[in-house]
Amino acid sequence: MPKQPTEIELEIATLSDQGLGGGTHNERPVWVRNALPGETVNARILKRRGGNRFADGQPLAQTHPDRVASPCQYFPRCGGCATHHLAPEAQLAHKQQQLQTQLELQGVEPQSWRSPTALLRLGYRRKARMGVRVVGDSVLVGFRESFSNRVARIEGCLTLTPELSRLITPLKTTIGQMSDPRTVPQIELAQGDDMCAVIVRHLQPLSAQEEALWREFQQRFEAAVLMQSKGYDTLKHIAEHQSQMPLLHYQIPEYGVTVGFYPHHFTQVNAPMNRELIRTAMAYLGDVRDRVVIDMFCGIGNFTLPLARAGALAVGIEASAEAVAMAEQNAQTNAVHGTCAFFDEDLYGEGGAMGMAEESIPRDSGSGIDGRFLHFGRAPDALILDPPRSGAGPNLEGWVRQPSLSQLVYVSCNPVTFAEDAKRLEACGFSLTQVGVYDMFPGTAHVETVGHFVRNTA
Ligand SMILES: C[S@@+](CC[C@H](N)C(=O)[O-])C[C@H]1O[C@@H](n2cnc3c(N)ncnc32)[C@H](O)[C@@H]1O
Repeated sequence: MPKQPTEIELEIATLSDQGLGGGTHNERPVWVRNALPGETVNARILKRRGGNRFADGQPLAQTHPDRVASPCQYFPRCGGCATHHLAPEAQLAHKQQQLQTQLELQGVEPQSWRSPTALLRLGYRRKARMGVRVVGDSVLVGFRESFSNRVARIEGCLTLTPELSRLITPLKTTIGQMSDPRTVPQIELAQGDDMCAVIVRHLQPLSAQEEALWREFQQRFEAAVLMQSKGYDTLKHIAEHQSQMPLLHYQIPEYGVTVGFYPHHFTQVNAPMNRELIRTAMAYLGDVRDRVVIDMFCGIGNFTLPLARAGALAVGIEASAEAVAMAEQNAQTNAVHGTCAFFDEDLYGEGGAMGMAEESIPRDSGSGIDGRFLHFGRAPDALILDPPRSGAGPNLEGWVRQPSLSQLVYVSCNPVTFAEDAKRLEACGFSLTQVGVYDMFPGTAHVETVGHFVRNTA
């Protein structure tokens, strides 16, 4: 007999950054999904790790004034979302509060706050990685369940765009028709403005029948299918005749830019919010005509291409050589290749460090970051930083030491590293003139931030 989960009555005191209600039982912290501060819940312990307990919760009496019915039938069991039980405005306030707490911890006080920006609440997600599990006769395709490694049992997903959500059930059917469905551990979904794509990770070579099965899926559901046997370098488009990888696109209409990408490339998942991020960054930079702007962690050129279109001399730097090649191709197809340049460099490594010890970078454009900054023969006026969760990395001080840099737009997916880097930037003589949160992933714990830093005048 499996052990019955322990049930306890618990008062919820806090809401964690992960969207969990926090209480204490026998002097141990208990984290409860679907629970809000001030509520008393019946908590069923599902997992124990370290000194912490993780539980499912049912509110017993009085509920939090911002509690709402989740729009999703799979919440809170499915771990794809965390805060569907909280009103959208309260979710935003909670995200802003997290950022504020982190900035306070670092002693950084922004000169002003921008109101939180929210657009689509549902149907926004254009990219997702989902687990696949076979349970008895059923194939499951979904996000992991919260507090567990199990795959959630879902028929669709409200946060995905409808075009991607409609693929979940046919994916289950098709995987179920393979000779051994257990050889598919994961799938990835990606959508451009023009088409959808599915990456199917498979652990065994496909038989001719299985290839035919996936070709049929591709035709019937109008989604390009790529099979992946090992790393991304093994991606193979399933096509009758050997064909090229399907290229997806998204538009940034404000700048007349079309960005091409392959399904495994990094792209911002929420297309309207991405355009909002670009609008915000460009508004902070002001008139960029004939100014040198460096786009650090540029990916496939999401910010670099609009910068170049707006008249800047734009330099994009990024670790992935493949993303840089895509960015260069995008610059060509958008006819801005004369005013933008891309370089692959590990910005956290020695190659990403400024070579100079003095106040300014050398005059000649050598190799390394110094040379990249001087690519257009002039020192840069502004930086855009859009790093991964780990933040700007150890070379930040070297980059901003260049005196010609008057401003910096920092786009962040992690308020902890954003606040730490904000403190470092203040120590380098910059002020955080404005900051705000952007609801890139509504209903989840993800916090996206844009901050504008300006060099203090003496
Ligand atoms: C949050 S994404 C931003 C991409 C791009 N700015 C956009 O909006 O699509 C972060 C980018 O940093 C890149 N990256 C990760 N580690 C890096 C490193 N050590 N050096 C340079 N780039 C890195 C990733 O490949 C990814 O493209």
